[in-house]
Amino acid sequence: MAILKIARMGHPVLRRRAEEIIDPTAPEIRALAGDMIETMFDALGVGLAAPQVHVPLRMVIFRAPVSEFEADAEADEDDEKPLTVLINPVLEPQSDEMLEDWEGCLSVPGLRGQVPRYAHLRYHGVDLTGAPIDRTVEGYHARIVQHECDHLDGILYPQRMTDLTKLIFDSEMRHAIAEKRAREMTGQAEQAEVET
Ligand code: NI
Repeated sequence: MAILKIARMGHPVLRRRAEEIIDPTAPEIRALAGDMIETMFDALGVGLAAPQVHVPLRMVIFRAPVSEFEADAEADEDDEKPLTVLINPVLEPQSDEMLEDWEGCLSVPGLRGQVPRYAHLRYHGVDLTGAPIDRTVEGYHARIVQHECDHLDGILYPQRMTDLTKLIFDSEMRHAIAEKRAREMTGQAEQAEVET
């Protein structure tokens, strides 16, 4: 296992369509997945796509809660966000509903953006043994899969944004949180007025 160098926005490998993996069970694919896992944990990320480590193949890894699909009966609390290795994924949004939330990306360091994503998603593909993965998920899980799989098509999250005033430095996140709190308080005030 090895920690790999992460490509950053501007590198051509992040702009191209990645290739299908012909044999998901090949030893070199397993080795790549192992290196990606080590790299993701080292960078404190929750997801990583192969193009981000300069390998233009259709494989992503991510950690997402299992609540929306069958939970492992043996899983303890530490396994609330189990790791998935997903190869040759296909995404099928289950409705037109979009949700906005903050995202970051190891290839776009130091920034955060508010990104609209499909709220309800079915995705399928295979794992490292070639076994099928087929899940219907929502919320955070749906968001992270859309973010990672976009990397396989050469898309970074700023390209999905509809309001670039919501692209900010990580270090300014406290202002966004303060604004959100202020809006919530205003909302409550308006609600109170309506009720009186
Ligand atoms: Ni990313």
